[in-house]
Amino acid sequence: MMILLKKHIFFIALVWVTFCYSGLYAASLDSGYPDQIVLSVSEDLSTSVSVSWRTDESMSSSTLQIAREHSRFNIADSATTHLAKSELLEFKGLRTWHHAVLLEGLDAQTTYVYRVGQGEKWSEWINFTTTGGSEATLKFVYFGDVQSNIKSMWSRIAKQSIRTIPDAQLILYAGDIVNRGNNLHEWEDWFYASGGMHQSIPIMPASGNHDHGDSHAGVYGISEYWNKQFKLPNNGAAGLEGTSYYADVQNVRFVVFNTEMFNTYEKNREDQVQWLEEVLAQNKQPWLIMLFHHPIFSTKKNRDNIELRNLIKPLIDKYKVDLVLQGHDHTYARGKDKVPMTGDEQSHTTYVVSVSGPKMSEVQEADWMDRSASFTQLFHGVEVQHDKLIFSSYKVNGDLLDTFTILKTRGVNTIIH
Ligand SMILES: [Fe+2]
Repeated sequence: MMILLKKHIFFIALVWVTFCYSGLYAASLDSGYPDQIVLSVSEDLSTSVSVSWRTDESMSSSTLQIAREHSRFNIADSATTHLAKSELLEFKGLRTWHHAVLLEGLDAQTTYVYRVGQGEKWSEWINFTTTGGSEATLKFVYFGDVQSNIKSMWSRIAKQSIRTIPDAQLILYAGDIVNRGNNLHEWEDWFYASGGMHQSIPIMPASGNHDHGDSHAGVYGISEYWNKQFKLPNNGAAGLEGTSYYADVQNVRFVVFNTEMFNTYEKNREDQVQWLEEVLAQNKQPWLIMLFHHPIFSTKKNRDNIELRNLIKPLIDKYKVDLVLQGHDHTYARGKDKVPMTGDEQSHTTYVVSVSGPKMSEVQEADWMDRSASFTQLFHGVEVQHDKLIFSSYKVNGDLLDTFTILKTRGVNTIIH
């Protein structure tokens, strides 16, 4: 009898440990109702946008309804309906459906209203606005690593970023959005903390080392959740869909690069370098911005990404990338004119490293830096005009820490501090 009781207790404990470890918990998953609604950047945000969302396993298909925004309540009467592409994710004992629609043929600089769902189970109606043409001014937010204490601490900076820059058209992340890429709890915390801002403002994420992990099949790569919840342009290096891609938004070509796979696999390194050179060479936009995780110039003691610097910086120099946005080192630093170059050339490129979450470090000062800060959570607002880029760094309370302007004159960049 005692042996049976012990076995019973052991079995219950085993189930509980498995439950906790596997991430079966899905705090916001309500039967049949959509959640985790995200707009992802498309190849042309003036005419298209990707929308993705999640349901539990009871809802294997789902739809999106969209109309031009108007002030009347009967939106559904003028809405068109789109059937989503639906994928089942079976991971760590949980089955969820992930739905997506690529909306195309939209009008530029126009506000639309949409909802997702099926039958009686719908999201709320949500507004979003398409971007303008190449002459229009672009405003976007850039976050360094989120990673830890996402719900309790990072949420403050997410809310403040929208209070400070309410007309942001795009939100960039330089990777390490979570600490363990295959942990559902952390993604749910991030969805909670971002407070629905990604339902109205498209996301452009780069992936960090912490956003990777072992897949269901035991292969190291991007999180199982990443390409289910973000539907990013399918124009990247082979095998790195969703983590290497580019998008032209108004007057900027953004190029997103996967430094974790660059560091991990020789093949991913070679393929990405070749892809990157083609994408940079083909650029027709006046501004060129790169977004990736591991920095070309580290800001932290005992860290250095030598292979990345040796292989990627020559391309950044050759194709005159204007701005490189990075993360990973949990500090803030930026620099341009003192960046090391061959000969007596001066760097065209401004490099930035930043952190948005509360896991922060002390900067190791280096000659290339124009400004730096230790132990400071930051978000950044960037405004890109035809011949001017204004970059502002804000603390979690909205106070301005640092700002600079890049003036572009006949293709030559001058920085004003
Ligand atoms: Fe990292």
